[in-house]
Parts: sequence; structure tokens; C-alpha cells
Amino acid sequence: MNDDDATGHGADKARPRVVDGPSGTRLAVAALRAGDIVAIPTETVYGLAADATNEHAIAKIFAVKGRPTNHPLIVHIGSADQIDEWAVGISDHARALADAFWPGPMTLLLRRSAKAIDAVTGGRDTVGLRVPAHPVALELLKEFAGGVAAPSANRFGRVSPTTAAHVVTDLGTDISLVLDGGPCTVGVESTIIDVSGETPVVLRPGGLSLEMISEVLGFRPVVEQPSAPVGESRAPGTLAMHYAPKARVVIASMATLSETFAGILGAGPGTVGLLSPASVGDVPDEVVVLEPAGGPEDYAEVLYARLRQADRLGLAVLVCVPPSPEGLGLAVLDRLQRAAAAGMSAGE
Ligand code: TXA
Ligand code: MG
Repeated sequence: MNDDDATGHGADKARPRVVDGPSGTRLAVAALRAGDIVAIPTETVYGLAADATNEHAIAKIFAVKGRPTNHPLIVHIGSADQIDEWAVGISDHARALADAFWPGPMTLLLRRSAKAIDAVTGGRDTVGLRVPAHPVALELLKEFAGGVAAPSANRFGRVSPTTAAHVVTDLGTDISLVLDGGPCTVGVESTIIDVSGETPVVLRPGGLSLEMISEVLGFRPVVEQPSAPVGESRAPGTLAMHYAPKARVVIASMATLSETFAGILGAGPGTVGLLSPASVGDVPDEVVVLEPAGGPEDYAEVLYARLRQADRLGLAVLVCVPPSPEGLGLAVLDRLQRAAAAGMSAGE
């Protein structure tokens, strides 16, 4: 709660209450039971949560996010034991992945049971399930004793929140409760694996690396490219343009950095910034250099906070040098590519 303007305590009705600790968790559970929505921490990003069996509560999530209702939501459960309540026809691959990586930053798409309602699945025949590895989220799920549907707690298409303050800044006037579990340690969303068919397919690289998945499966899974339009993609929210700050994101490599700067600065776009894994020697004076993001895991952890910082600084362009595409580097590269794609469309 210390990196910008939002604390949420006090009399201002337009701001949500930010709560923490066991009493905060109890308030959040009570809100879920009452059919309200509440922002909750996970190890990946903050989620905007509702009782997964309550259609009216789910509708509030879509309204607040401004998200098309055919984009399904992930159902968060407290333990892998609950997988059979929500899904049917669970393959050996799915069981092996759940055993190995739950709780953790992995979402499995499985054939849904009757308990997974259309409001959650967007009418699809699969349901996304995840056991988050965050002590506060797990405590909440244990006390709630049911499934909690939650997308990332940002407006549709924007950068996901990794602190309670980010949630308040983004959704402040539209929600009434934020459960604060501290900054997210993974920093990018879960890896989504479709295990509803014969062969597992990764639909979104994320907080669980392909290397680790491959170790359990015994082969490297196919990664579906994210350019398909809504309705055609297997994960409808994974549009090519997504996760975008207001600043235009330009991806560069260390080798082409000076050319990139020369091209951008020559066009006089406003303030230009740089985000890179390590400090760079030769940067033009007028470029605002953000604190280096480090290697793949560290880069993932700070990525969204840095994109938000770029907006707070009023940068017109943020030049990003991605980390190497190993481990969580692949997810970082994926998010940067989507942010860059958003910047190229319709002046956004
Ligand atoms: O780390 C995460 O996954 C976070 C935290 C809060 O758990 N959640 C998150 O949710 O990123 P969301 O809704 O922002 O992104 C989930 C993506 C969406 O693109 C959605 O379309 C896709 O997963 N998805 C969920 N269930 C699906 C299903 N049954 N079939 C296809 N795509 C699905
Ligand atoms: Mg999201």
C-alpha cells in the first residue's frame, strides 16, 4: 500500500475498504457469501472474485471489468481434491500436472461438470481450474469452502494489478472490498494448459515455465499462438492486444537499441523510457531509464509495476528489452508483445 495514492481506509465512500489479516479474510468470505465481488490476492496477480455458483455475482465481475461475457473465468479452488466436483473425464496428464503444480500458477482447462455454470465458462464445454499458491487466497478458499471465479482485477485489456494499491487505483469506485495480501511474488498470470483433449496445449504462457511442465509431461507441449480473434481462440481473453499500459510499448534487443532510440526520438513522440534486464551503457540523455528488471523471474515479478510506473511518469513510449525467453522469460515476452500490439492499434 505504499507505491501510490490509494489506501482506501476512511470515510470516502467512493474508495473500497482495504482489509487484511484473519479479520479481513472473514470479511471477504462474508462478502462472497452475500453475492458481492471482492478483490483478492494470489501469487500471480490480484483477482476480482465472486462465488462461482452465483450467476448474479458473476455478472458484477463482467460489468466492473467491462469484459465481454463470452470470455470465461477461472474457478479457484482450495485443493486439488475438488477437481472432480468441477470437471469430468480428467486425463492422466491433467492429474499429473495438478499433483505436481497445485497450489501454483497453473490453470487447467478441463471438460466441465454441471457445477460449472455457463456464466463462468462463457457457454464453453470446458472449465478453467486453479489452486492458487498464496496463503491468504488459500485461507479464503478454505473458509469459503467453494469455488471462487476470478479474472485479473483490472479493466478489460489493461495491465493486471500486482498490489492492493493497483486494484484501488484501477477499480476504486466500482468495488467495495479489497483483501490485501501484499505484493504478488510471481507477477504474471498463471500458465493456462488445455488438458481437455488428447494432447495438452499451452494457451497462455505464464507463471509456470514450459521447462517445468515438460519435465512432468515427458515432452514439450505445443504453445498456441495468441493472434486468433475473439470467439476463435481457444482462450478468448488471450487477444493479441492485451495487458497494455497507456505508453506505447516498443520491443527492442540490446543489439538494435541505439537504432531503435534514434528512430523513435527522431519522430519526437514525447518522453521516451527504457526498461531492460540489466543496466545499459549508452542511452541518449533524454531517455528516462527505469530501474533494470533483472533476469526472467525478477522481470516477471516487476513487469506490471514498471508498466504502471511508465504511465505515472507520463511516458509516450517505453522501449523494452525482454529477458531471455527461458523460464518465466517466455511469459514476459508474451505480455510485452501483446502490449506492443495494443499500442499499434487505433492510437491506444
Ligand atoms: O493468474 C491468473 O490466472 C489470474 C489469477 C487471478 O488467478 N487470473 C487471470 O484471469 O488471469 P483472466 O480472466 O484475467 O485470464 C484468464 C484467461 C482468459 O483469457 C480466459 O478467456 C481464459 O483464461 N479462460 C478461462 N477459462 C477458460 C475456458 N474454459 N476456455 C478457454 N479459455 C478460458
Ligand atoms: Mg486478465
